[in-house]
Amino acid sequence: MNFDTLVIGAGAAGMMCAAHAGGRVLLVDHAKAPGEKIRISGGGRCNFTNLYCDPHAFISENPHFAKSALARYTQWDFIDLVDRHGIPWHEKTLGQLFCDNSAKDIIGMLRGLLQASGVELHLQTEITDFAKSNETFTFTLNGTNQHTARNTVIATGGKSIPKMGATGFAYDIARQFGHRITATEPALVPFTFPDRRFADISGVSCPARVTANGTSFDEAMLFTHRGLSGPAILQASSYWDAGDRIKVHLAPETDLGATLRDKRTADGKKALTTELARHLPARLVDHLSTQMDLSGRLGDLSDARIDALIHDLTQWQLTPGGTEGYRTAEVTRGGVATEQISSKTMESQTTPGLYFIGEALDVTGWLGGYNFQWAWSSAMATARHL
Ligand code: FDA
Repeated sequence: MNFDTLVIGAGAAGMMCAAHAGGRVLLVDHAKAPGEKIRISGGGRCNFTNLYCDPHAFISENPHFAKSALARYTQWDFIDLVDRHGIPWHEKTLGQLFCDNSAKDIIGMLRGLLQASGVELHLQTEITDFAKSNETFTFTLNGTNQHTARNTVIATGGKSIPKMGATGFAYDIARQFGHRITATEPALVPFTFPDRRFADISGVSCPARVTANGTSFDEAMLFTHRGLSGPAILQASSYWDAGDRIKVHLAPETDLGATLRDKRTADGKKALTTELARHLPARLVDHLSTQMDLSGRLGDLSDARIDALIHDLTQWQLTPGGTEGYRTAEVTRGGVATEQISSKTMESQTTPGLYFIGEALDVTGWLGGYNFQWAWSSAMATARHL
């Protein structure tokens, strides 16, 4: 059969693009159901965009690449779509918008749009023998029957969560057509420490400013059996390379030095650990007291000892052994290099008619709804051009 457009990958980007492409569209996915990552996202409520979405929240070799698509299909456009479908939502924190009920509302909306535009959806289907001859792409579905399409959109995402069907398909196709793939790494992923040094405080969480390679995030940090997690750590992981140190500033909203100096005069008999436990979780203070000297009373603290202590608590240097990897990473940092992709349409400059959208590209958003917004925006950049 002859299609106007073949979209490979029925995730967030692929469904959005197929639904708005127009013409005869075939949408193919090897999974049993479309939008599986949407279903599990945001703890089942899908953090579908962010009120403060802006290009600064995206990592790419070319930080300007995402600007055009994000400006032409914004968070407000997607919120408007969600509102028109009567999906209730709320802001949780830091501009992060979640469904009130279930991520399935977003999948339902996209499936409805696919149906309304007459898109043919083939699940549990592999694309084989994909090639371009003259002006058309040729391919077979599950190895049988050859079909053609004038345009092909690659929306097969990155490598995170292989158990859910993630593959390197987009990278293979990109290479086949002469594109470069940037280094790919798991991102938005917990750190591991081989010595399991935080096992005794697993489950403890506290506010922290975590810095990796000069970029800092003020959010919660969680100690785990295997290392560190929580939003501040996941965000920092996107800027971290193997072997790098991270810096942790505990209780970033409190001036601990000034507090200890004040209390030294006002409440000198109080134990240092008791005062610290007013600002940090008590179990964390216990853990830290096995690593540093927290003995004695406030009245006994010299200025030099307060300065040294504050240095240790605000410039805590840690070198993770690694990350939990693609098994749990929310996204892949890196992907199809943007230098030969049009930032306006996502079309390949080596192969007219071939498009790459969503996470497959070297565009990685922060935690907080940015990655879905990139999926919607890049999908619409292509759909409007087809
Ligand atoms: P996506 O991965 O969604 O879709 C790719 C599709 O291609 C899949 O359906 C897959 O089966 C298919 N496919 C792959 N290889 C194929 C092949 N060879 N043949 C056919 N089909 C193939 N982001 C956010 O903004 N807010 C959030 O709340 C969350 N939460 C979250 C939780 C968890 C646990 C994860 C793992 C990820 C998130 N994310 C997120 C990230 C977000 O899910 C991700 O960025 C988008 O789903 C990317 O959309 P894409 O459509 O590009 O890929």
